[in-house]
Amino acid sequence: MNAAIDYEKVDGILERCGNKKSSLIAVLQEIQREYHYLPEEVLGYVADKMGVSRARIFGVATFYENFSLEPKGKFVIKICDGTACHVKKSIPILNALRKELGLSENKRTTDDMMFTVETVSCLGACGLAPVITINDKVFPKMTPEEAVRILKDIKEANRLED
Ligand code: FES
Repeated sequence: MNAAIDYEKVDGILERCGNKKSSLIAVLQEIQREYHYLPEEVLGYVADKMGVSRARIFGVATFYENFSLEPKGKFVIKICDGTACHVKKSIPILNALRKELGLSENKRTTDDMMFTVETVSCLGACGLAPVITINDKVFPKMTPEEAVRILKDIKEANRLED
């Protein structure tokens, strides 16, 4: 088992959500909130605890777009590339953030596990296009310059926390 996983926390999630098969999606959501992705060893643990097969858990985890089996950074930045945001130039925002963080289409998370940059289709806030979210907080009417400035603020705030 991975030493970084706190199984007491996982037990707490199971207890809070109710250890029933019908709570599986809620449990997975909570686990992803905690770890920013669904660690394989936690899924195995949850399968055993809930009495569901690993195949069923992996089936649910891979079916829903919002679940990720890949580790993500502490800050997950989503750039909307739905039609409204694309038309209002979301791609230059994506490129500016990738450049600033040394990321690309194939490398979406920084080596220090601080930032993940990914694109999503419509975030449902088209009137505010172009939109990005950082850990689910919405930033409307974004520009490449403003996105990079926010990124620098986050880095700075994080440095102060250390
Ligand atoms: S297209 Fe970006 S919020 Fe709808």
